[in-house]
Amino acid sequence: MAPVPSSPTVVMSLSASLVEHSITETPNEAEFDIAEAEDFVRQHHAEAVQVGFGDIGKVEARLAEVHAEIAATGTYRHTTAELTYGARVAWRNSARCIGRLYWRSLKVRDLREVSEPTEVAKECVEHLRLATNGGKIRPVISIFAPEEPGSPAPLIRNEQIIRYAAYRGSDGGIMGDARNLALTELAVQRGWEPPAHRGPFDVLPLMVEHNGKTCLVDVPEDAVLEVPLSHPELDWLERLGVKWHAVPAISNMRLRIGGIDYPSAPFNGWYMGTEIGARNLADHDRYDLLPYIGKRMGLDTSSETTLWRDRALVELNRAVLHSFQQANVTITDHHTESQRFLTHLKKEEAAGRTCPADWSWIVPPVSGGITPVYHRYYDTEELLPNFFPSSCPVKH
Ligand code: ARG
Repeated sequence: MAPVPSSPTVVMSLSASLVEHSITETPNEAEFDIAEAEDFVRQHHAEAVQVGFGDIGKVEARLAEVHAEIAATGTYRHTTAELTYGARVAWRNSARCIGRLYWRSLKVRDLREVSEPTEVAKECVEHLRLATNGGKIRPVISIFAPEEPGSPAPLIRNEQIIRYAAYRGSDGGIMGDARNLALTELAVQRGWEPPAHRGPFDVLPLMVEHNGKTCLVDVPEDAVLEVPLSHPELDWLERLGVKWHAVPAISNMRLRIGGIDYPSAPFNGWYMGTEIGARNLADHDRYDLLPYIGKRMGLDTSSETTLWRDRALVELNRAVLHSFQQANVTITDHHTESQRFLTHLKKEEAAGRTCPADWSWIVPPVSGGITPVYHRYYDTEELLPNFFPSSCPVKH
């Protein structure tokens, strides 16, 4: 297997119900969570009024419309305003995300007419281009056809639009991102041919399914902005050939708005440095770079008490932030983002809302205790709309 040039080979061994209806429930209504639809329509209306959109129309009229549509078809169609609001609030309700201050800025692409697998894949590539924006990353969500009675939604098997392949060597070692072993195997099973010279950062093809049809579409190189890693002082680091992609675009989570499921709704923000420097490149079951970096730094790795891991980790994270900044690619650090999250909490409180947050995800994986998000508790109840794990996961 081809190692990274002059590098550690990057190998690891490694409710309210719809009130006062005189109509009896039809079978269609019985299957659809009408209470969730009504809650959503009311919430949308109330918040629109709160921010001054008085012209949204009467909520009762919209509720009657939704009810009639569900009775007739077993589902209903969101208005463009509902879809946009629903997607943004799903982000606002994502308890694991520290970056929610900018939830209102999410650009929503309405692709509900798209369900054919190759079209879905093509639009995912277009999503990347729009989100990448030459390095000035824009938060974007692309919403494909929803789940409807008698008409299943398309499904994207990739966890993110950009995922690096993992290859198992004859010695049992793994080259690439071990998290994506199962996804790589699936791609190969479906006829993907890895590049002639396999490397640790080979981008996997997009795999989309719909109505028993599957497709395999390569992500064009020019749609994948990547940042080569260098360090402000440790010159040797850039010779390792380590890099990461600029846009984290989660593509396997189900978006649920007002009782409707959108299983294919890839969304992205920009990176916080620690996601790459303290997890993707550092985790033992990912790229596992710390032992190598520790040795190259000349640290005493013979005992844990020298804190060589911690020292290598800090330098790796400096390299990530430094490299993205040098490349003019949007990135944020965990100190700034922790402050911003507290600002977000204050704003939510001022708007009269609770803000669910999962402490174990919000606290950054380095220097937890010196960020302000560490020193408090959060509301934990789950709010809707929201994003949920895929119903059809590929194991990592
Ligand atoms: N942690 C994931 C990764 O490293 C990305 C999750 C979403 N992150 C974000 N900044 N929007 O790829």
